[in-house]
Amino acid sequence: MKWQRIPEDRVFRVNGKLMTVRVDPGETLLHVLRDGLGLTGPKAGCENGDCGACTVLLDGVPVKSCMVPAAECFDKEIVTVEGLEDRALTEAMLEESAFQCGYCASGFLVNLHALFDKHENPPKEVVDEWLASNLCRCTGYAGIRRGVERYMNKR
Ligand code: FES
Ligand code: FES
Repeated sequence: MKWQRIPEDRVFRVNGKLMTVRVDPGETLLHVLRDGLGLTGPKAGCENGDCGACTVLLDGVPVKSCMVPAAECFDKEIVTVEGLEDRALTEAMLEESAFQCGYCASGFLVNLHALFDKHENPPKEVVDEWLASNLCRCTGYAGIRRGVERYMNKR
């Protein structure tokens, strides 16, 4: 007899809401969010854990959702860029024209949101360490760093 994976309806807690979606047991969290729930903020870049475009918060911790099996997230709190409440960081980035094509933006914003949740006033080395987990193909990072500084000066 051929073994088959059977999709099931499962409940996810995303951006503070309970959402039901049909999930294949082998699917990644990224595909469930984008294709199942229509949350297109997390982007599919490398789908290999390298670029960070797909970053979301899982119980407050930034994770690369392309690398996380959806089946590990049933009882977790998931936050995507659509669910971030603090807009000040986004505004600081816009004021510094931090992004060009914007493909990487949601991953950076989610990751930086977690950074500032954890560190009130992070030193440059800590900011650099956190920024290193996201790639941007367009900007050379100068605008992104200026956006971070602007945000920190406003806090
Ligand atoms: S798409 Fe997930 S790390 Fe690149
Ligand atoms: S703005 Fe284009 S990849 Fe970052």
